[in-house]
Amino acid sequence: MSERYARLAARVRALDEAGLRRRLRRVEPTSATTARVDGEDRVVFCSNDYLGLAWDPDVRAAFARGGGAGAARLVSGNRPAHDALEEALSERFGRPATLFPTGFQANLGLLTTIAAARDVVASDALNHASIIDGLRLSRADRHVVPHGRPDLLPASLHLAVTESVFSMDGDVADLPAWTGAHWLAVDEAHAVGAMGPGGRGIAPIQGITPDFVVGTLGKAYGAAGAFVIGPPELRPLLVSGARSFVYTTGMPEPVAWAALEGLRRATDERRERLAANTARLRGALAMLGVPTLGSTHIVPVPAGDRTMEAAERLFAAGIYAPGIRYPTVARGQERLRLTVSSEHSAEQLDRCAEAVAAAIRG
Ligand SMILES: Cc1ncc(COP(=O)(O)O)c(C=O)c1O
Repeated sequence: MSERYARLAARVRALDEAGLRRRLRRVEPTSATTARVDGEDRVVFCSNDYLGLAWDPDVRAAFARGGGAGAARLVSGNRPAHDALEEALSERFGRPATLFPTGFQANLGLLTTIAAARDVVASDALNHASIIDGLRLSRADRHVVPHGRPDLLPASLHLAVTESVFSMDGDVADLPAWTGAHWLAVDEAHAVGAMGPGGRGIAPIQGITPDFVVGTLGKAYGAAGAFVIGPPELRPLLVSGARSFVYTTGMPEPVAWAALEGLRRATDERRERLAANTARLRGALAMLGVPTLGSTHIVPVPAGDRTMEAAERLFAAGIYAPGIRYPTVARGQERLRLTVSSEHSAEQLDRCAEAVAAAIRG
C-alpha cells in the first residue's frame, strides 16, 4: 500500500482489529418483503419501507417521471414536482412543509435555523446522528438528557429535540412530557406514514402539536427525501438560509413524484396491517421467550456480544436482519433490529420469530 495513505491504512487496520469494519451487502429486492442478498434469497426484516410502498407498482412507475433537478431549487432546480409534493404535505400535516433531499439534511437545516450559539438546547441521549450533528453545527449550548427522561430537562431552555419512535430502540417518546415554554422539535422519521391519524405520526396520537416536525419520505412513504413542518414563519428562513437547503441540488423530480404517490398510497388499511403484523411478531417472540425492546414496528432483540454471530445464524436460516453494534449503539447494547412491514405474511412473521429464537440461543 502507498506510503502516501499510511495514516488511512492504519485506521482501516484499527477497525479490523476492533472488529468494527463494516461491509456492504448487495440487496436486490424480489418482492415487498424478500430480496436476493449477496445472491441468496432471503426474507427481509430490516427495511424501513414499513408499508411496502417502495415495491408498489404506482410508486415505482412514478420514478420514471422527470429527471435530475440540475441545480439548487433557488437557482433553476425548483420543479412542479417539488411544489406539488410540498402542497400535499402541507395539506396532510396542516402547516407549511419544506422539502429537503434527505432526512439528514432536514435535521441539519432545521436545527441550525431554530437554534443559535449559546441558546440552551436539550437533546435525548438516543437521538439520531443527524440531530446530534445539527445541534453541534448550531453551536448552541447542548444538554444531553438521559433517554426517555424529559423530567430531567434543564429549567431554562430554548429548544428540546427528541425522536418520536426511536430508530434503534423502537420505543415511543412521551411527547407531552417534552413540551413547555421552550420550543419542541420532534423527528418523526420512523412514524410518519406508518402511525397516527392520516399517517401524521405520534404527535397527533398523543394530542400535541410540536413547534417543528421532521418527517422522512424514504421510509414508510417508499421514496427518498424528507420534509420539515412548522409555523408559517419557518419556511422563509429555511428557504433563504438553511445551508442544507440552499446549497444543495433539488430533490430529483422522479423522487418527488414517487414520494407524492407514496403519500397517496400510505393508507389506513396498510397502517392497520402494519400494526397487526407488529403485534403478531412481538407476540410470537414473547411466546418463545425472546426478550425485545420497545413497542413499535421496530423490534430490537438484545443479544450483547453474541449479536453478530446471531445475525449470521439468522441469515443462514433465511432471514435478513443484520446485527446493530457500536458505534450505532453503545457497547454492551448490541442487538438484532427487526423491522416489520405491512406486507409480511403470517408465515414470514412466524418463521422469523422461530429463527430469531434459535439464533440467539446459538
Ligand atoms: C430518526 C432519524 N432521523 C433522520 C434520519 C435520516 O433520514 P434520511 O435517511 O432521509 O437521511 C434517519 C435515518 O435515516 C432517522 O432514523
